[in-house]
Amino acid sequence: MTDPLVDAARAAQARAYAPYSNFRVGAALESEGGDVYVGCNVENASYGLTICAERAAVCAAIAAGAQRFRRAVVVTDSEPPAAPCGACRQVLSEFGRDLRIDAIGPRSVATWTMADLLPAAFGRDHLS
Ligand code: THU
Repeated sequence: MTDPLVDAARAAQARAYAPYSNFRVGAALESEGGDVYVGCNVENASYGLTICAERAAVCAAIAAGAQRFRRAVVVTDSEPPAAPCGACRQVLSEFGRDLRIDAIGPRSVATWTMADLLPAAFGRDHLS
């Protein structure tokens, strides 16, 4: 069965700029309105300035005007499928504890919510 969000994340993965790690990541975010925003990892010779695919997708969505999301898909060549890194978990968590994350590997899929991936998260409630 085809899943347009997975297809979008795969297409973004193919455009990843990862000459140092050769670990290509594609991410796709679906807004509540059904629009899709993608990101890929963008590495840098200084290494530490590398941008992860998930955060790139969040930035693309926010810049396009979307702020409420249903689901995120992350595609890697890792098996078992790679979950978002800690920094990406914190950024994704900003947009919903119930947000569903599907990690797609070559042979399997893993699904979590943001609450699963980042329990006891720091969030806006701590600022009030
Ligand atoms: N990477 C992501 O794009 N997302 C993650 O959640 C984890 C890591 C990228 C960063 C780097 O370009 C490569 O994967 C290896 O760490």
